[in-house]
Amino acid sequence: MSATVDAEAGVRADPAFRRDVLRGLAQAQKAIPARWFYDLRGSELFEQITELPEYYPTRTEIALLKQHAADIAAYVGRGRAVVEFGSGSSTKTPLLLHAIAPSAYVPIDISGEFLRDSASRLAATFPDLPIAPVEGDFTRPLALPSMAGAGLPLGFFPGSTIGNGSAFSSVDLLRAMAETLGPDALLLIGIDRRKPLAVLLSAYDDAVGVTAAFNLNLLVRINNELDGDIPVERFRHRVSWNDGQNRIEMHLAAQDDIAFTVAGQRFAMRAGETIHTENSHKYSRDEALLLLRAAGWQVEEDWADDAGWFGLYLARRSPPSIQD
Ligand code: AVJ
Repeated sequence: MSATVDAEAGVRADPAFRRDVLRGLAQAQKAIPARWFYDLRGSELFEQITELPEYYPTRTEIALLKQHAADIAAYVGRGRAVVEFGSGSSTKTPLLLHAIAPSAYVPIDISGEFLRDSASRLAATFPDLPIAPVEGDFTRPLALPSMAGAGLPLGFFPGSTIGNGSAFSSVDLLRAMAETLGPDALLLIGIDRRKPLAVLLSAYDDAVGVTAAFNLNLLVRINNELDGDIPVERFRHRVSWNDGQNRIEMHLAAQDDIAFTVAGQRFAMRAGETIHTENSHKYSRDEALLLLRAAGWQVEEDWADDAGWFGLYLARRSPPSIQD
């Protein structure tokens, strides 16, 4: 994400990107973490995904935030400090901020660039709101800036981003958020639900091919930033439902036997072999409540659309008891 341009070598990669790609391509089942989708082009393509007719999560969550803004505000009260995990979305964050009259806004993101972007966008809309961006990795506990007059924190983690990780790692992530936010925190989190298979599959394999382009762009990024020669046109976007793990999987499948070089290392793939690029776990309401409870969060209120396709959960820190 923090690629810099180098006059001689073209675009220079983030060392963590290089490490993840080389390690992931050396595995028996090749795999690359989904966070590397989001270079400039990948972020643009993701924006387009959120507007696709097949991709229901974004518009469903936005509708929930609008419809239940007053309920959320009534529960949360005025003067909380909103701590958003990930760079703020231009649609969802203002909806929340307008609803609850917060005392401060603290976006946290690993990418300083995305962070400055969303901070300045929000500053234009909310000129009187103190904004204190934190550049850092929110998968681990972080120190929040101390802001005079800022109220107790409300964590905000929309978009079902939690679904990228397994339940195992999501519990760690939610616990880290609890640590970061402290004992009196609330958390507002969007978590996508399981639903008819045809709906899920087309949400990740749309008719015009935007999601395919998003997936394939990872190979373009590798070629650009890691001096690769992957024949992108010989790969296909492949989506499947993993029933045992309750998740959508995205892969990039080699169409025939191919060999390529990345960062000076040779790799070979057989026809049909895949690179696993993303998981998107889905949770029923009960599963979401348990996931949150397992990480120290007790859900106090929650909302879903009429079809029950997407859940929005408002949780409170639940301190461990002596019985635990
Ligand atoms: C950003 C992880 C929530 O899993 O729905 C959308 C990413 N990938 N289409 C999701 C994504 C392909 C998205 N999350």
